[in-house]
Amino acid sequence: MAARLDIPRPAFREGDSSVEHVVRNAWYVLGWTAEIGTGPFARRILDEPVVAFRRHDGRLAALLDRCAHRLVPLSLGSVVGDTLQCGYHGLRYDGTGVCVHVPGQANIPDAARVRSFPVEERYGAAWIWMGDPGQADPRRIPAIERYGAPGWTVIWGAPQYHRSHYLNIVENLQDPAHTTYVHPATIGNPASSDIPPVIEETEGHIVTYRWTLDAEPPPIDRKNGNFSGLTDRCQYYHFFPPCTSRVDVVTMQAGQEHTEANMDRGLRAFSYKFLTPENDTATHFFWLHVRNFGVGDKELDERLRREMGRTFEEDNVIVSAMQREQDATGLRQLAWLRIDAGPTRARRMIEKMAAVESAAASPATTTAS
Ligand code: FES
Ligand SMILES: [Fe+2]
Repeated sequence: MAARLDIPRPAFREGDSSVEHVVRNAWYVLGWTAEIGTGPFARRILDEPVVAFRRHDGRLAALLDRCAHRLVPLSLGSVVGDTLQCGYHGLRYDGTGVCVHVPGQANIPDAARVRSFPVEERYGAAWIWMGDPGQADPRRIPAIERYGAPGWTVIWGAPQYHRSHYLNIVENLQDPAHTTYVHPATIGNPASSDIPPVIEETEGHIVTYRWTLDAEPPPIDRKNGNFSGLTDRCQYYHFFPPCTSRVDVVTMQAGQEHTEANMDRGLRAFSYKFLTPENDTATHFFWLHVRNFGVGDKELDERLRREMGRTFEEDNVIVSAMQREQDATGLRQLAWLRIDAGPTRARRMIEKMAAVESAAASPATTTAS
């Protein structure tokens, strides 16, 4: 029998990456609307099993994916009318998680109920609220810039599964310095790697950006735009904690003033990523892209879907490999560079939100004197 290496793992340093510190009172993308058909749809979110299903009028419901009888995942069952029927003994649950039918007996035990989660459909996505249902205000669903506006179009990427803690991905999304090295075939641009980014932080928002002036357009823009010479390019890396990233990309003819109107005459896009933590070491990664060029061009839609999907899978390779080393060592980072400023601030912002939330959920008890 092969000897088993039993190496004790040290605790995390420099910020615990446990999913325990995740923000629960937020809308997370459960899935694209198109993913959820007529049968049960299962996905693990914040380390809890969730099953969604559509009632006969199409309205979504989301329940804990664990039957109250013998804990069988309800997603193994089927949708019957407005209920979800367990695949083991046929208990039926309505959209609020209450059992409304027990085969072979008239009385329904009080304990025959499962947790339900607020769920909303907007922007082609199903959004779920895993925290206090009383705080689930649909107005807190992130607004998508230019969505549905004339002259703009949107594509939804295939959902990806990144084997990394979502805070590693948050940092990646606030880190312009990596594009040169990780994405040389698409969005990378050697001319941009030496320019320090500007970082601005306000309540509930952080943005990192830099203009690259008089540069050759990167390959992806050369294909999409008709630039006669050099270009000015800007990438604004917005982050709205805990889980929404928006990268605004502008590529415009060099030598013009950077006004809104001039930027609109160039190539302009808003690239959204929505991170939904699965657990400590995996994240559901959703992206959609709103742009002002090639509207109605299905071939371009397909090309962008393919190239952007590939770009984010390039990030996946990096963050998944990082996660493996983090798991093996219990470490997160040893050396700190100037380029870490933006990513670290985004991480701190989320950690603070999570700490405030958990303090509110378990207020300090006072001792009666
Ligand atoms: S386990 Fe679900 S009905 Fe028995
Ligand atoms: Fe990237």
